[in-house]
Amino acid sequence: MDSFKGKVVVLTGASEGIGRALALKLAGRGACLVLVARNAERLATLTDECTALGATALGVRTDVSRREDCSALIDAALARFGAIDVLLHNAGSSMWSRLDELQDPGLLERLMRTNYLGAAWLTWQALPALKASRGRIVAVASLTGLAGVPTRTGYSASKHAMIGFFDSLRIELAGSGVSVSIVAPDFVRSEIHRRAIGPDGRPLGTSPMREAKIMTADECAAVILNAALRRRRLVITSLRGRVMRWLQLIAPSLVDRLAARAIRRRS
Ligand SMILES: NC(=O)c1ccc[n+]([C@@H]2O[C@H](COP(=O)([O-])OP(=O)(O)OC[C@H]3O[C@@H](n4cnc5c(N)ncnc54)[C@H](OP(=O)(O)O)[C@@H]3O)[C@@H](O)[C@H]2O)c1
Repeated sequence: MDSFKGKVVVLTGASEGIGRALALKLAGRGACLVLVARNAERLATLTDECTALGATALGVRTDVSRREDCSALIDAALARFGAIDVLLHNAGSSMWSRLDELQDPGLLERLMRTNYLGAAWLTWQALPALKASRGRIVAVASLTGLAGVPTRTGYSASKHAMIGFFDSLRIELAGSGVSVSIVAPDFVRSEIHRRAIGPDGRPLGTSPMREAKIMTADECAAVILNAALRRRRLVITSLRGRVMRWLQLIAPSLVDRLAARAIRRRS
């Protein structure tokens, strides 16, 4: 496969940010899209936009943190298209709170369900179809899945879980024709920062990031699609992220300081 034309792509977290950019790019390349998010209105608008770009698009309202929704989603995708070529796990939500300031630790469970378990359940359900198509699994994780970041304990844990899951699955799938790609973005300009859950359990409302300094959702989407096409194993979107991987071996406390500084500088 050297293009997405005619390929069935199940894309979670399609309604905003990186997912929306992915959906529009894939639509322009003639993919058959199964677009997934909770917000039905935004999903319907996006489905129309993708159709106008020439794609065949089906919106399936799904909360990936609910296992029954995940089953229904894969059933709906197979009922409509009869195959799944790419399963792109992009849905996610975040936090912005030190643990000792967090008023309700239930957030830790919610992040795990959305960012890790949803991807795991969907993959389990779609595996026979992916084996039949010798397809691709793409997991949008995060740099926080490779290193600790302050204010992100629960988020980082969920992304570490995601990476552990997909690294293990890749080994199990050796020889099956199914590839597993992990993309670990650094900060990206999207809705996730203003929607991040603060210490009081509510979304922050405005982004604390220096948005002009960070990668755009469009740029990140291009990196993700390239990783999918090339069946790349792990893609880290920033130079500092790639350097960090080496520093973890020789100077891990320096990595801690760099992570703390990135949060202080908000970029
Ligand atoms: N932006 C960054 O700095 C950054 C950095 C590293 C990694 N990432 C990762 O990139 C991915 C995309 O994030 P983004 O930055 O584009 O965030 P975003 O703009 O907030 O978009 C998140 C998307 O996920 C969907 N979503 C959230 N919870 C869901 C659920 N329970 N079930 C189904 N869909 C759900 C949202 O739609 P609904 O609310 O309508 O459901 C939305 O479409 C995430 O996995 C995130 O962790 C982002």
